[in-house]
Amino acid sequence: MSAPVTSVKFGDNSLDLPVKSGSVGPSVIDIGKLYAQSGMFTYDPGFTSTAACESKITYIDGDEGILLYRGFPIEQLAEHGDFLETCYLLLYGELPTAAQKADFDYRVTRHTMVHDQMQRFFQGFRRDAHPMAVMVAAVGALSAFYHDSTDITDETQRMVASMRMIAKVPTLAAMAFKYSIGQPFVYPLNSLDYTSNFLRMCFAVPAEEYQVNKVLSRALDRIFILHADHEQNASTSTVRLAGSSGANPFACIAAGIACLWGPAHGGANEAALKMLEEIGHVENIPKYIAKAKDKNDPFRLMGFGHRVYKNYDPRAKIMQKTTHEVLAELGVKDDPLLDIAIELERIALHDEYFIEKKLYPNVDFYSGITLKAMGFPTTMFTVLFALARTVGWIAQWKEMIEDPSQKIGRPRQLYTGSARREYSPMAQRR
Ligand code: ACO
Repeated sequence: MSAPVTSVKFGDNSLDLPVKSGSVGPSVIDIGKLYAQSGMFTYDPGFTSTAACESKITYIDGDEGILLYRGFPIEQLAEHGDFLETCYLLLYGELPTAAQKADFDYRVTRHTMVHDQMQRFFQGFRRDAHPMAVMVAAVGALSAFYHDSTDITDETQRMVASMRMIAKVPTLAAMAFKYSIGQPFVYPLNSLDYTSNFLRMCFAVPAEEYQVNKVLSRALDRIFILHADHEQNASTSTVRLAGSSGANPFACIAAGIACLWGPAHGGANEAALKMLEEIGHVENIPKYIAKAKDKNDPFRLMGFGHRVYKNYDPRAKIMQKTTHEVLAELGVKDDPLLDIAIELERIALHDEYFIEKKLYPNVDFYSGITLKAMGFPTTMFTVLFALARTVGWIAQWKEMIEDPSQKIGRPRQLYTGSARREYSPMAQRR
């Protein structure tokens, strides 16, 4: 049976282009031969209609508000599993057996310490540096410390680099936090689970005993699960593009962290909390809704809207529940920011502008309130996102490297600059 094709007409000519279908979701038109056959490129800035790769990792149905990791709904993973189980699933494609999970936890745990010289590396930063700036540098610098896992053609080295990053990024994130507040670094304690260990590295001090709060640890673990992967978003595409040149995995993940930092992407939870603080009171909400709707005002409701979800972000629902659990555990009865968030959400969900444009709360809308209540400063929010997304970036990077048809990513352009012109000596220029 011949492969399905679609006919594309341009001028008097037409071209038959192959159509490829996935397991679920929209099919794609394979335009790989379009330029050779028509002399034209496609034009899609922002990739709104472009599938950049084939992937088996994560599936999103934006209209229905569905998110699946390796086929499993995010709600089930967040309810029943832990973050390292999600890591295993994303990396290996299947849920682990008990023995596989124990082995995986052990392998990750073994790598939690960072090279001692890394501590000196931190001392070079100003104390008021944004921890994301520190993370971009520190994760990129891992390639200067772990030369024995930078050969991307070696399957074992690829896996060692993957384990190292899943294990060490929390340690580096906690170090970035401790450095910014002038406290000593706290070494990992490998008898603790992944997220409890991270909380301890962030909040323990050598002068006092530290007891992990299990409710907070479970809530943060769930937040990590929610952020673990999200198919071909901006930072993941950055990691894939960086990796397509053969760059080492630590450098690729550092590139992903740099991209994630932007307020339209991972920086949105920080921006959403700042926005709630700026709104200040429930009474001011209508003014901000009007600003968001005003075409001449650049203001946007942070934590609202998504390129793919044109329905309630399934992660936002779980996040909202987690927020209530955390605030209850911490005995926060009245959080004015939570009141503003709930009212803002209620108004926006009934407003014609937001309904028509299908703008719903995304995962970042409630995460800021939750992380703040746990004791993290706003500057750490995107760092926590980067920590969780590291496994997604790695899984996507590995999938790309292991794809035999992989080649360097090299988009083309629509050139609108000057056509050829002649150089004039400086004395003759006006
Ligand atoms: N508030 C007000 N209006 C909005 C918002 C918003 N948050 N988001 C989109 N719109 C409007 C735009 O003004 C535009 O209106 P127009 O058609 O009249 O010009 C329309 O909705 C479509 O917006 P685009 O920017 O074209 O949509 P896009 O898919 O490119 O952007 C994005 C998605 C970047 C997430 C956008 O909704 C946004 O800026 N949201 C706020 C930032 C945010 O929360 N980012 C987190 C994303 S989730 C994540 O990274 C984990």
